[in-house]
Amino acid sequence: MLKKLATGAAFALALIPAAAFAAGGGEQHIEDFSFSFEGPFGSYDQNQLQRGLQIYTEVCSACHGLKLVPIRTLADEGGPNLPDDQVRAYAAENFSVYDAELDEDRPAKPTDNFPVNDALGAPDLSLMAKARAGFHGPYGLGLNQLFKGMGGAEYIASLMTGYTGKTKEEAGTTFYENTAFPGGWISMAPPLDDEQVEFIDGHANDVHHLAEDVSAFLMWTAEPKMMARKQAGLTGVLFLTILSVLLYLTNKRLWAPHKGKKTS
Ligand code: HEC
Repeated sequence: MLKKLATGAAFALALIPAAAFAAGGGEQHIEDFSFSFEGPFGSYDQNQLQRGLQIYTEVCSACHGLKLVPIRTLADEGGPNLPDDQVRAYAAENFSVYDAELDEDRPAKPTDNFPVNDALGAPDLSLMAKARAGFHGPYGLGLNQLFKGMGGAEYIASLMTGYTGKTKEEAGTTFYENTAFPGGWISMAPPLDDEQVEFIDGHANDVHHLAEDVSAFLMWTAEPKMMARKQAGLTGVLFLTILSVLLYLTNKRLWAPHKGKKTS
């Protein structure tokens, strides 16, 4: 019986690399960036989110909207945590929205959402970090996701850093070769350059760092309550552990007269 089990296990293990290979992992290259919000105790890095917001505002917002994100959430604890007056100033300086009551555009307020931007056919980025997965398979086992997470943020960061420099024209559109994009050719020109965005605190601004920061920010827009969710999960586990111990002791106590030492 034991021998049978052991051969079975060995056989299953031997299948895993084969399944991973069959899933075609070779084509798409996703770098395993290490983010502060990974793991059961991970949390967003407030400064990183603020840098990511700056990169989104100065670069990505030219083409991409964030229509599901209320501007006021920039003040959220566990998010970028900006002071209220800065959020107000940020909204008014960067975006204007159409006001149906005034029948004209006015500066955005914290109660507005980030604007829609679909002029250039670029997808909205609000939920992009949850809509894409960086790590796949092995199919049916999900081992990669178990160990590395879903990899939405890694996918975006790898997309930013995955340009090879090659381009091709097809039907009047230029496509750029990218090792992270499924299919290998994307119509978005490389959006980030070294030193494209300057931070007041002089933080590193090479493409790799910029990619990481903007991806962390987009993870937050897609999952703003991640920290609260993790905390609730941990409280739950702790609670259930204590409950299990108490139930075990109760069980022992209840059965004590009937089990153990025979007195007669
Ligand atoms: C000049 C316009 C432009 C700018 C600036 C731009 N993008 Fe894009 N982006 C696009 C277009 C167009 C697409 C659709 C590409 C396609 O599907 O071939 C796209 C697609 C994407 C996608 C989706 C890829 C997928 O898997 O479908 C992500 C993620 C993305 N952009 C992130 C960013 C980030 C982050 C920035 C800022 C650092 C940025 N983009 C700046 C035009 C732009």
